[in-house]
Amino acid sequence: MKTLTKYELQNLAIIYDISYHETLLILAHILNVEYTYLFFEKSYNLSEDDYKTLNLFLSRRNKGEPISKIFEKKEFYGFNFKTTKDTLDPRPETELLIDLFKKYHLNSSQNLQILDLGSGTGCIGITLLKLFPNALCCFADISAKALSITRENSKMHQVLDRSEFIRSDWFENIDKKFDAIISNPPYVATSYELDRETLYDPEAALFAGSDGMEAYRNILPNASNYLKLDGLLLLEIGYNQAEKIKQISSDLSLLHMERDLAGIRRACVFRSL
Ligand SMILES: C[S@@+](CC[C@H](N)C(=O)[O-])C[C@H]1O[C@@H](n2cnc3c(N)ncnc32)[C@H](O)[C@@H]1O
Repeated sequence: MKTLTKYELQNLAIIYDISYHETLLILAHILNVEYTYLFFEKSYNLSEDDYKTLNLFLSRRNKGEPISKIFEKKEFYGFNFKTTKDTLDPRPETELLIDLFKKYHLNSSQNLQILDLGSGTGCIGITLLKLFPNALCCFADISAKALSITRENSKMHQVLDRSEFIRSDWFENIDKKFDAIISNPPYVATSYELDRETLYDPEAALFAGSDGMEAYRNILPNASNYLKLDGLLLLEIGYNQAEKIKQISSDLSLLHMERDLAGIRRACVFRSL
């Protein structure tokens, strides 16, 4: 057992060049206690293993790894999701897709059939399954490793019995029609320089060709084959893609583009005819 004083912890924060706030957050995670509890303590009791883990996590954070990847968890729409090096960390802007879905299916008690295309952690589809207790969701991803995290999260959130998992290159292995297809596909141009933290997300979750539009060029022209009549396609888009997406040919009609809090058109809703 090792006793670490607040002063020693502050020194560790300085050595690893990390804010004291994040250092406390990491210690709280390791000790499995509330951050606020540690905040008011003057010293902390750690096992030798805890102390080693603390130094390991601080050094990973010092190299730029996001806290979410170190803890292997990230909150999305008030739910916690496991995230690893094989999955994109859920982003707050993607919560807009959930709000949009709710707007179009408000009070829906039907057995909605949803396709979460490019599921990653499964944060979109699993959140919808939590919010719509009669819905069913098919999760598809090209990455087997990502899909296994989707499954873990589905189990953790107790929606496994309403989940199906398909490894698929977009629609390649999908053979039915849905009430809604919802997707946050990769949309970063390959030339774009990523910030230090985003480098920890898998490349396949980020990049979509030289203009960032490759995934949309696959999804949009094909989606009508996988939607029931009046079915909806909800897509997240990048900050400069609202006009470009209108140029992609599709049998769907564009109903609406939703802006995020920064005023950027961030999500589109299409309807099948
Ligand atoms: C931007 S991430 C979104 C993950 C998750 N839905 C979210 O919103 O946090 C895109 C996901 O699409 C998957 N993906 C990339 N190319 C794909 C393809 N050709 N077919 C199916 N999924 C693909 C990636 O593996 C990744 O999980």
